[in-house]
Parts: sequence; C-alpha cells; structure tokens
Amino acid sequence: MGQGRHFLQIPGPSPVPDRVLRAMDMPVIDHRSAEFGELGRTVLEGAQKVFQTSGPVVIFPSSGTGAWEAAIVNTLSPGDKVLMVETGHFATLWCNMAKRWGIEVDFIPGDWRRGADPAELEAKLAADKAHAFKAVMVVHNETSTGATSRIAEIRAAIDRVQHPALLMVDTISSLGSVDYRHEDWKVDVSVSCSQKGFMLPPGLGFNAISQKALAASRTNKMPRSYWDWDEMLKPNAKGFFPYTPATNLLYGLREAVAMLLEEGLDKVFARHQRLAAATRAAVNHWGLEVLCQEPKDFSPVLTAVLMPPGYDADEFRKVVLDNYNMSLGSGLSKVAGKVFRIGHLGECNELTLLAAITGVEMGLAVAGVPHRAGGVDAAMTFLEQRPPGNASHLKVVGS
Ligand SMILES: Cc1ncc(COP(=O)(O)O)c(C=O)c1O
Repeated sequence: MGQGRHFLQIPGPSPVPDRVLRAMDMPVIDHRSAEFGELGRTVLEGAQKVFQTSGPVVIFPSSGTGAWEAAIVNTLSPGDKVLMVETGHFATLWCNMAKRWGIEVDFIPGDWRRGADPAELEAKLAADKAHAFKAVMVVHNETSTGATSRIAEIRAAIDRVQHPALLMVDTISSLGSVDYRHEDWKVDVSVSCSQKGFMLPPGLGFNAISQKALAASRTNKMPRSYWDWDEMLKPNAKGFFPYTPATNLLYGLREAVAMLLEEGLDKVFARHQRLAAATRAAVNHWGLEVLCQEPKDFSPVLTAVLMPPGYDADEFRKVVLDNYNMSLGSGLSKVAGKVFRIGHLGECNELTLLAAITGVEMGLAVAGVPHRAGGVDAAMTFLEQRPPGNASHLKVVGS
C-alpha cells in the first residue's frame, strides 16, 4: 500500500479509533477473576445503553452471522413460519439461514432499492388470522444497498393488526450509527456485532432480548448449545461468561461505548445523517445514481452508487485502491460489479468524508467514468451550510 493512512471506506469493518486500539492493548487477564467481572458488568450495562434497553443484552465471541443464528435457535422451532422482506443481500442470507434451520419463510420479494414496506407487512399480518407467523424478521440497515427500514413504523403496523409475532431486527450495520430503540419499539430480538457502529474489530456478536423473546426461549424446540441464552445469562448476572470471552475486544467495547456516550447518541446519529447527505450531494452532482430510490430510507451509514451502464464497479474500485490507497465497498450478489459502496460510519468526520469523496472523484476521472466534476465542492457546500454545532459566524477581531 502507498504512503499515508489507508482509507477504509467500506461499510464495515469500519476504522477502529486510536483510543479504542490503545484500550485493547492490554495483557490478557483471568476471565474468572474479580477484575474481569467488573469489566463484564461494565460492558453489559454499556451495551444496554447503546441498544436503548433496560433488558438483557448478551455478547457472543462471534461475527454477526453467529448472532443471527442465536436469534433463530433461541426463539423458533423447526416448522415455524416467519415473515421476512428481501431488502438485499443480507436479508437473503438471514432468510437462507432460517430455512436451513427448518423454518418456513414467507419472503416478500424486493427490488433492493428501498427498505421494507410497513404497509405490505401489515397486509400480510392482517391476512394471517390464524397467527401462523411466529416472527417478523427485518434488516434495519441493508448494508448491501444503503437502504434503511423504518422499524418504528413496522412496530406500529404489527400493533395495529394486533399480531403476536416476535419482531426480530438485524441492527448489524445500524447500531451506534442510526437511531435505534430496542425497548421503545418493542423489538424482541435485536442482532448486532462489533465491527460497524461500535468501531471495534470483528469478533463480538450481540443479542438484545425482550421478556417476550425470553419466554419464547423457554418453550421453543430448537437444539442449541453454544448460542443458548440461558447458559449465557446465568453467569452474565455477575459479569462472567459460560466460556472464554473475547477479553481484549471487551476492553475495546468499554472504550467505544464511552466514546459514543461522551459524544451523545443523538449527536452521533445526527453526524451520520449529515455525512450521508453530503455524500449524496456529491453523487448527485457527479450525475451518478444512488441505488436507494426512497428518500425516507436513505442510509446514514453508507451510500451505494450505481455505475453508468458499461462501466464495471470492481475495476473502478481497483483504480481507487491502486492510486489513492482507499477501499470502497463492492457490490454483493445481485448488484456485483454494478455498484460501489461508500461507507461513512463510525470514526468518520467532515474531513475524513471529504477526503474519501475526493478519492472517489479522482478515481472517476482516472478510470474515465463519465461524470460532472465538482462533487467534492457540492459536499463541502452542503457541510458548510449545515455546521455540526453552533451556526454563529465568527466576528472579525476588533470590528
Ligand atoms: C446487515 C448485515 N447483516 C449481517 C451481516 C453479517 O455479519 P458478519 O459478516 O459479521 O457475520 C452483515 C455483514 O456485513 C451485515 O452488514
């Protein structure tokens, strides 16, 4: 790689702040010691604050996929029916996993250009008079497309038809970046992991669990061992784990939660929205198309950009990497080669974003992709007009 720091502008894993790296640079401690118990209690409480819940949160040494599996095996039984929406690649993977566990999935087809439609879910649930659906499973922020589903509206839709299905939400690329309220929105299982809004390396998987989901876990018929919530919750009460936890990632988690709370979750969410809007200002100026077509669903975490017909997104990404030492996200499955994704999450501010957008614009020019120059200026103008803090202008000294 070239000189200077590598720009990791993929939508997760996201760059790890120096402060978090330093916090993890510690000797490994005895995970049965009192010192560990204190760390365990602190991070379990900290995770509750980020999920915005007073209920239990469990932390697995796993990727997000493991936490998906934990949500399924702790609540459902083979043969159960669930309702899902094809928002993109990750919804499809979660659907395939559920099927492998013997779950019957009613998978509402989608065009990968918007979030889940609450009205469509409501209609399906209203028609399910026998309450065959045991769960509604939705991806909050579809990382493959840059579309965010409106979970509060989906909750309201479920409530309007008084359907008893569990609500399970993948918050893997939204938690800590997009407003998300496990308790207020009466989500039953929220699934997340460490390498996105938590700004940590990969390796921690999370489930936030409602009392209703906990009750389901006491009667469901799915075999499990490693992922069993009960086994985890018992030692968690004193800050411990049933098996060896990812000790040093937990040091990082303690620091990352402190950073999120010091900035204030509201400010964190507003920062992500501003950076996303500035990115879209650049993309629009270039004359390229944002993949997400529903403005209400624009993702604060990433922007997926469609290449003009005849231009390959992966070749373009290679030009950017080779020339400017920046990684952009690739298009996944259905949109492979057709889109590139700009991640603007976690440890990202105005200047980081402008540098990333500069790299994209120079890459477009070098790769000969038709575009209108000046997208960086458009992003700057957007950010200048909407300063993050007080908008008061500096007075000239002495005037
Ligand atoms: C929305 C979403 N769900 C699930 C996953 C899978 O997580 P992991 O790769 O950590 O297993 C990802 C990964 O990027 C994701 O973005």
